[in-house]
Amino acid sequence: MQHRIPQPPEAGLLNAVRFGTDPFRFLEGVQARFDSIVAVPIPGRAPLVVVTDPDLAHDVLARPPAFRRVAAQGSARLIAENGIVQSDGDLWRQQRGIMRPAFTGAQIREYANTVGERAAELAAEWRALDAGEERNLHREMTTLTIRVASEILLGEDIGRERAARFHEWMAIAGREFEFSPTTVSPEWLPDRTDPEFREAAEGIRGLAAEIIERRREELAGSDAAAEDARDMLTLLIGAEDDPDVEYEPNQIRDEVATFLIAGHETTALSLTYTLSLLSWHSETREAVREEARDVFGTGEDATTPGYEHVEELSAADRAYREALRLYPPAWATFRQATGEVRLGNYRVEAGSAIVLPQYSIQRDGRYFENPRTFDPSRWEELSPNSVPAYFPFASGPHACIGRNFALSGATLTLARLTGEFDIDVPEDALDDLRPTPTLRPAGEVPVTIDPTQ
Ligand code: HEM
Repeated sequence: MQHRIPQPPEAGLLNAVRFGTDPFRFLEGVQARFDSIVAVPIPGRAPLVVVTDPDLAHDVLARPPAFRRVAAQGSARLIAENGIVQSDGDLWRQQRGIMRPAFTGAQIREYANTVGERAAELAAEWRALDAGEERNLHREMTTLTIRVASEILLGEDIGRERAARFHEWMAIAGREFEFSPTTVSPEWLPDRTDPEFREAAEGIRGLAAEIIERRREELAGSDAAAEDARDMLTLLIGAEDDPDVEYEPNQIRDEVATFLIAGHETTALSLTYTLSLLSWHSETREAVREEARDVFGTGEDATTPGYEHVEELSAADRAYREALRLYPPAWATFRQATGEVRLGNYRVEAGSAIVLPQYSIQRDGRYFENPRTFDPSRWEELSPNSVPAYFPFASGPHACIGRNFALSGATLTLARLTGEFDIDVPEDALDDLRPTPTLRPAGEVPVTIDPTQ
C-alpha cells in the first residue's frame, strides 16, 4: 500500500520560503516533527520532499535512475557543465571508471604523505608568526588543501599565491549560490550572474585549461615520470585514445575545474570546523595533542606526518568524524524524482525535488545521544560505517570518491597542527553559517596561533 507523503499543516508557500531563508532551522524543525518524510507543496510545481529517515535517504541514493542528480544549471555552468559531480547515467559511469584508479591504494598513500609534508611546512610558517597575530583559519586550510589536491590529482602544485586567490573565488561562488527565498526546487540556482562571479568562474576555468596544457606538454615529451603517473589528469588525457570513450566538448576541462573545487573545498571546511571545535573543547584538544606528540614528537624536530601514522591517530580521527557529524560540509544531498516512484511506503510525485539532509539527520536525538554535544568519545563504541544516520560522504554509486583522501589527510593535519599549537578561535566564529552548496562560514574565521609551551 502506497501512502501520500505527509505535509506540514501550515501553508505550503510559507514553508517553502522558510526553507529558502533559513534552511538549517527549517530542516531541524521538520526533522523533529516528521518520522520519515515530509512534502512541502509548492504552487505550480512538484513538491519539495525532505527525507528525515536515514534508511529512506540511503534508498534514494542507491537508485540513481529513479532519483537523478540535479544537473548544473544557471551560472554553475560557467564553471563546469559535465563534471563528475553533476553527471549521471552513461557519461558518469564512463568518467567514474576512468578516474577510479586515481583514488585507490598507492594514490591514497601518496595523498596522505603530501598532506603530511604540507602540514609540516605550514607548522614551520606558523612558528614564525608574531605572538597574537590573527589569521583567517578557513583561508589557511583552503590554501593547504587545494595545493595538495592539485598536486595529487592534477600533477601540479598551484602554489601559495594562486591557492589564496582560489580562496577568494570560492567566497564569491559561495555568495552566488547561496540559498534565497526562491530556493524551493532543484531549479534553485540563480539565473542572474554577478559580474564578480563571472570573473571568478573564468579564473577557475582558465586555471584548469592552463594545468591541462602543461600536463599535455609533459606527456608529449619523453618524461618517463609523467608517463608512469596515475594521477587523475593523466588518466583522463590517456583515455582520449580509447575508442570506447566518448567525451562531451570540454570534458577534461570540466573535470579539472570540478576537481579543483570538489577536491579541496569540503576538506578545508571540515578542517576549519574541527579545529574550531577543538579550540572550544580543551579536554579533547589535550587528548589529540598528547597522542600527536607520542606519534610525531615535539617542536622543530617533530616527524613529518605520513600515511603510516594514520592508524595511530585514533583520537584525531574520532574528533574529525564527530565534527563531520555536527558540521557536515555537504549539509544536504539533492536529487530529483524522474517519474512517479515508490519510496518505502510512500508515493513520490514525478519531478519532486528531494532533499537528503545530512545536517538535520546527523543532529537527530533518535539516532545520537546528546545530539548537539561535540563528543568524539561516542565513536569509541560506534563504527561510523554502521550508523545509517551518519553519512557525511553520502552513499550509493555516487558516494564520495575522495572519502579516503579526506579522512587520512585530515587526521594527519589535525594531529600535526594540534600537537604543536594552541589554535584559538572565538566562540561565536561559527554562529553565521551559510547554506551555499556547502556549509560555509559567512565571513572570516579569525584565529590566533601560538606554539604550545
Ligand atoms: C570532508 C570532505 C568531503 C566531504 C564531506 C565530501 C562529501 C561528498 C558527498 C556528500 C558526495 C555525494 C554527492 C552526491 O551524491 O550528489 C561527494 C561526492 C564526490 N566527492 Fe566528496 N567529499 C569530501 C572530500 C572529497 C575529496 C577530497 C574529493 C577529491 C579528491 C572529493 C570528490 C568527490 C567527487 C568527485 C564526488 C562525485 C562522485 C560521483 O558522483 O561519482 N570529495 N562528496
